[in-house]
Amino acid sequence: MHVTHLSLADFRSYPRVEVSLDPGVTAFVGPNGQGKTNLIEAVGYLATLGSHRVSSDAPLVRMGADRAIVRAQVRQGDRQQLVELELNPGRANRARINRSSQVRPRDVLGIVRTVLFAPEDLALVKGDPGERRRFLDELITARSPRMAGVRSDYDRVLKQRNTLLKSAALARRHGGRTLDLSTLDVWDQHLARVGAELLAQRLDLVASLQPLADKAYEQLAPGGGPVTLEYRPSAPGEAHTREDLYEQLIAALAESRKQEIERGVTLVGPHRDDLLLKLGQMPAKGYASHGESWSYALALRLASYDLLRAEGNEPVLVLDDVFAELDARRRERLAELVAPGEQVLVTAAVDDDVPHVLAGARFAVSEGMVERA
Ligand SMILES: Nc1ncnc2c1ncn2[C@@H]1O[C@H](COP(=O)(O)OP(=O)(O)OP(=O)(O)O)[C@@H](O)[C@H]1O
Ligand SMILES: [Mg+2]
Repeated sequence: MHVTHLSLADFRSYPRVEVSLDPGVTAFVGPNGQGKTNLIEAVGYLATLGSHRVSSDAPLVRMGADRAIVRAQVRQGDRQQLVELELNPGRANRARINRSSQVRPRDVLGIVRTVLFAPEDLALVKGDPGERRRFLDELITARSPRMAGVRSDYDRVLKQRNTLLKSAALARRHGGRTLDLSTLDVWDQHLARVGAELLAQRLDLVASLQPLADKAYEQLAPGGGPVTLEYRPSAPGEAHTREDLYEQLIAALAESRKQEIERGVTLVGPHRDDLLLKLGQMPAKGYASHGESWSYALALRLASYDLLRAEGNEPVLVLDDVFAELDARRRERLAELVAPGEQVLVTAAVDDDVPHVLAGARFAVSEGMVERA
């Protein structure tokens, strides 16, 4: 798929902007702080309902405005669709498809698909487990948009179970009413049921991604691997099917129940898992060099792209400021790998940072103006 038109109103620094896009490569070039990343962040928002830079919506709304609108015309084969999101920080966001009546924001997932490369990706390798869980879950949702519902169900069940545990922990400390254990049993079952569905998808994803990530790393940094991805569940076991994962979670919850009631928080489940990224025999985190970590993050994104494409969901490739961070050899290799993409959006501060193989349309971005160069 590709985006043929992007319109923003009160998104980040833009009061209004309209950008018509073609398939192939488009580069947005301009000095620092002029709004290049803001543009591609908006495209990414349509694909994930989140920003790759901030965890809340408030900074995405132009200072002084009370809501932002992101709208894109999207073409997939012969099909045209118009998607629109209204961001209302503190209130529910709204969504429309083809100007029809409102749909839930998560109903727009799957219309725009992106794989985004950005300097922030270094956190995939060096950061907390939460970064890697988000990576997996966003990719799961890109593969199968209905997983957005499963993710939000899981978050809701987890929150409610934590509330119950917290009040139990407080009651214990203050000698109040003790917890009704049969209520907790019911929440265990909810958590394990939704958790098993999420886990099954994550395990399947990691298995599919593994060979692609290894291949991508080899292409970026020949001889530097191998790259191994190991899913590390908080509920120990070897289960793979949903039924077995359910049992595994139920057993782990039973095992940690005493501790959970003491601490007032859910200690087992997909929200506590990690993805171990190994380079050679060592974990990349804490061992890999800066350049190796960068190559690793890029390899994970390239593998995501290969996977979505192989499954028939060619995504838009978005490269925010990545070329300036790479040495000449890796820059060329990355450029060659992404160049054939159906649509590739690139940002760079200066023309020279855009590799030659990525010749295509250019827009100059300056002081809120986005003009075809
Ligand atoms: N909510 C907002 N309201 C108004 N302006 C904002 C908002 N959020 C960010 N900005 C402004 O947008 C600008 C940053 O835009 P952006 O990150 O797109 O820059 P860029 O062109 O990608 O720069 P660089 O080359 O440094 O990456 C900053 O000047 C910032 O002040
Ligand atoms: Mg930027």
